[in-house]
Amino acid sequence: MAPSGLILLFYFVFYAFLAGMFCLTMWVMLQTLDENIPTYQDRVPSPGLVIRPHAADISFNRSDPTNYNQYTQHLHNFLQNYNDSVQERNDLCLVGEYTDQDAEPVKKVCQFKRSLLRQCSGLSDSSFGYAEGKPCIIIKMNRVIGLKPQGDPFINCTAKRNSLLQIRYFPSEGRLDKMFFPYYGKNTHADYVQPLVAVQLLLSKEDLNVEQTVECRVEGSNLRNNDERDKALGRVTFRVLVSE
Ligand SMILES: *[C@@H]1O[C@H](CO)[C@@H](O)[C@H](O)[C@H]1NC(C)=O
Ligand SMILES: *[C@@H]1O[C@H](CO)[C@@H](O)[C@H](O)[C@H]1NC(C)=O
Ligand SMILES: *[C@@H]1O[C@H](CO)[C@@H](O)[C@H](O)[C@H]1NC(C)=O
Repeated sequence: MAPSGLILLFYFVFYAFLAGMFCLTMWVMLQTLDENIPTYQDRVPSPGLVIRPHAADISFNRSDPTNYNQYTQHLHNFLQNYNDSVQERNDLCLVGEYTDQDAEPVKKVCQFKRSLLRQCSGLSDSSFGYAEGKPCIIIKMNRVIGLKPQGDPFINCTAKRNSLLQIRYFPSEGRLDKMFFPYYGKNTHADYVQPLVAVQLLLSKEDLNVEQTVECRVEGSNLRNNDERDKALGRVTFRVLVSE
């Protein structure tokens, strides 16, 4: 065989060996992973808060439905999964107790009915208060597998201004019930629904055309809400401007 043929053969065998090693290592690594549980997790992280409608600035003219339809449509779409008829297929769980079910192969899902959000459910008032200039904003905590908040978590919102802004909470006192924790991940807990808290800003006549900055935090529990570096942990800030 010519020397160049030998060299080619050598490289062929050499690279085939490297590729084989790589595949073997990957395979061994993957065998050690459980698809439901993140492997390297020394403690359960704290969740972030997000709002619906999904916007940092919510600005609309309350006299003009075409102006706020994007927001109310978004809320209607978001809440479809929470329709009472959909949620009735889920389980009734014990109020104020974790729904621990580590051993169950298929996890039950605790129901959260849209009607719990009352005036902010979009059922009795399909404009979610936007037509009145008293808009509802829905606050959702991100899912974290295995999270079991201690204490009694609730959402507390404050407006950054001198006088107090009246805010209504649904469910009452902005409670996030323990029954919705822990979450077991999308493979075994496919239909899981997060608990929601709706806040309705009871803006007065004087508040029209004035931008309101509102900050909501999860309080009453060990969940973090004042991290300097990650401003989304346990809190969310948004601005609302209503004109007429
Ligand atoms: C949820 O309820 C709303 C209002 O009653 C209805 O328009 C919508 O079609 C329902 N969606 C589902 C998926 O049941
Ligand atoms: C909500 O937060 C405000 C400002 O931090 C505080 O003054 C108020 O006491 C809190 N409300 C509750 C119910 O903890
Ligand atoms: C809001 O909409 C109404 C009705 O379309 C209109 O008369 C009014 O000028 C609008 N206001 C602002 C601030 O654009």
